[in-house]
Amino acid sequence: MTNLIKVVIRHKKRESDTIMSYELRDADERPLPAFTAGSHIDVHLGKDLIRQYSLLNNPAETHRYVLGVLREETGRGGSKHLHDHLQEGDILTISSPRNAFSLDETASKTLLLAGGIGVTPLLSMAERLTHIGAQFEMHYCARTRSNTAFLEMMASAPYAQTVNTHFDDEATEQLLNIPGLLEHFEPGMHLYVCGPQGFMDAVIEEAQKNWPEEAIHREYFTPTPHQVSDGDRAFQVKIASTGEIIEVAADESIAAALKRQGIHLPLSCEQGICGTCITAVLGGIPDHRDDILSDEERAANDLITPCCSRSKSDLLILDL
Ligand code: FES
Repeated sequence: MTNLIKVVIRHKKRESDTIMSYELRDADERPLPAFTAGSHIDVHLGKDLIRQYSLLNNPAETHRYVLGVLREETGRGGSKHLHDHLQEGDILTISSPRNAFSLDETASKTLLLAGGIGVTPLLSMAERLTHIGAQFEMHYCARTRSNTAFLEMMASAPYAQTVNTHFDDEATEQLLNIPGLLEHFEPGMHLYVCGPQGFMDAVIEEAQKNWPEEAIHREYFTPTPHQVSDGDRAFQVKIASTGEIIEVAADESIAAALKRQGIHLPLSCEQGICGTCITAVLGGIPDHRDDILSDEERAANDLITPCCSRSKSDLLILDL
């Protein structure tokens, strides 16, 4: 069970028209749990309103966590609540940091590719890579220079020289040449990408031509469309420890079916992007609908995210 922490919003700052940053401190002024670059926290915003945000500050800091929050007009309400209702001095409940996007610190060279708000986990990675003296290159793509968050902060950071910015509305020559950047791979190199779906798809598709899967690391903020399918059918789940068989209806998740029978899995995003609910599979073939497992983990078929994934086989045996 994840530890919950009471924090106070020490600073709230407008970073662009649509992005605010929040500096959180322990409400009792104690050091916060240490985190690793790429980590995120759950922010509890109300009953059934828990949202995940990446920590963007230096992982060496234990006196604060800093988040960047994009106001999403069509989202589920978490970002609007933070933007509109929470102010400096307000108390929030958060989880301890978790990392589903961890940095391989043994890399010979690291590429950090950010699109828009996807820059947040990569900022903490840039801090960490600088701290350990690792070689890296950062590319930050955004729509317009005048309305891009964190530019000032990055320009004065110790890693400023490694940052390349690319703006959609400026000269064609400065746009990110994704094929050119990713045509060369050497063993030991690692790529981290985070941003909107189209950006992620373009980068990952190109990388997969030359880079091995284990060198491509990604983090999604919103679930990809493959979670939704018209042809979903019912199946059964077996609880390995008790032998109990539970029916999962065509229109319910495995997690919901388990809950109906009194089995409560730890859940957070319920969208396949945070990893909280990952459960081992002992039999059957999962129908993976998440954005958290790697392609290799999916192919192994021994893990599943019951909040959104389903089953290709009639029976799925879970290690519960
Ligand atoms: S609850 Fe987040 S991946 Fe399942």
